[in-house]
Amino acid sequence: MSVTLKQHEPHAASRIAAVGAFRPARRLPNEDIVGPIDSSDEWIRQRTGIVTRQRAGEGETVLSMAVAAGREALERAGLTGADLGAVIVATVTFPYATPSAAAAVAHELGATPAPAYDVSAACAGYCYGVAQADALVRAGTARHVLVIGVERLSDFIDPTDRSISFLLGDGAGAVVVSAADEPGISPSVWGSDGERWETISMTRSLLEVRDEVEGARIGGDASAITGQEGMLWPTLRQDGPSVFRWAVWSMAKVAREALDAAGVGPEDLAAFIPHQANMRIIDQFAKQLRLPDTVTVARDIADAGNTSAASIPLAMHRLLQEDPSLSGGLALQIGFGAGLVYGAQVVRLP
Ligand SMILES: CC(C)(COP(=O)(O)OP(=O)(O)OC[C@H]1O[C@@H](n2cnc3c(N)ncnc32)[C@H](O)[C@@H]1OP(=O)(O)O)[C@@H](O)C(=O)NCCC(=O)NCCS
Repeated sequence: MSVTLKQHEPHAASRIAAVGAFRPARRLPNEDIVGPIDSSDEWIRQRTGIVTRQRAGEGETVLSMAVAAGREALERAGLTGADLGAVIVATVTFPYATPSAAAAVAHELGATPAPAYDVSAACAGYCYGVAQADALVRAGTARHVLVIGVERLSDFIDPTDRSISFLLGDGAGAVVVSAADEPGISPSVWGSDGERWETISMTRSLLEVRDEVEGARIGGDASAITGQEGMLWPTLRQDGPSVFRWAVWSMAKVAREALDAAGVGPEDLAAFIPHQANMRIIDQFAKQLRLPDTVTVARDIADAGNTSAASIPLAMHRLLQEDPSLSGGLALQIGFGAGLVYGAQVVRLP
């Protein structure tokens, strides 16, 4: 005799209920990093729009920053950890390949035994997390999902590498995605382009010191930390101009697809919150999308630097802090980065 399996009761829709953030207090101005890369404050400002980058201090770890951002998001949503049906942490800088950062964060927030896992999608990690949270909530698998983007990129910087070191910052941003009656998150436009797999990369293991090790422009000798002789600490590296071209040409198209998938136009937006990669990329997006002046464009990068998975929720948090009237309006968010991978949605701001 055949039996019908029970299913979760689906929810009509999902929305972002609240956003939280943790910003390290420390700021590193351009002047403090230009020496080892033979650069200048003027060059960095002109080419990237970055004036300072936020950098974690002692004790400000991936876990502590994630917990702080998650806690604020929960408090603002009027929830506790016990209400969560899942915890998703997007990061590429948690030093452990396993166990996940998410399991420790869930425990710290009192969310145990909620399922908890990390997402490795670099600067698209937060948008990937929102895509999953939206699907989990609508399918009825969870009622509330915490999505955190967190990075401590400063642990993986070679200060003599002029391709990326000057871009990066640290921090954490979080949103609670909750069941709703009306859609507050549009269909996600997300994808990957593994043909460009090597454009931005970082191994998570120590590298053996060999002359031919590509990217062995390492600031610190890992043997000092690990006691293992002849090992190099891994650092992030990229082919900046390739990423720049890909971002400007391909990601503007993805942003337009996200607007179409949501059934809205640029004029319907209150805010545009792209991944904070480079001010010139942000300006190009705004131009190509023909965003009217009424749309507030997030430009958190000037102060924060590129914080990878944390950049969009951090920028959203700042926009809402600086202009609370944006609350309830629509925002287009788009993340893109190593993989190469990308993700975009239109969301109603909490
Ligand atoms: C990294 C990035 C800022 C470099 O800017 P760019 O305009 O592409 O610079 P280029 O590498 O083409 O170099 C242009 C010139 O500046 C010089 N230059 C490169 N890096 C420099 C630095 N850090 N400081 C000073 N000069 C630098 C180059 O030598 C070159 O000089 P030349 O014209 O005399 O040959 C830019 O490519 C970028 O932001 N890319 C996207 C990065 C990104 O978003 N990464 C994360 C993905 S999420």
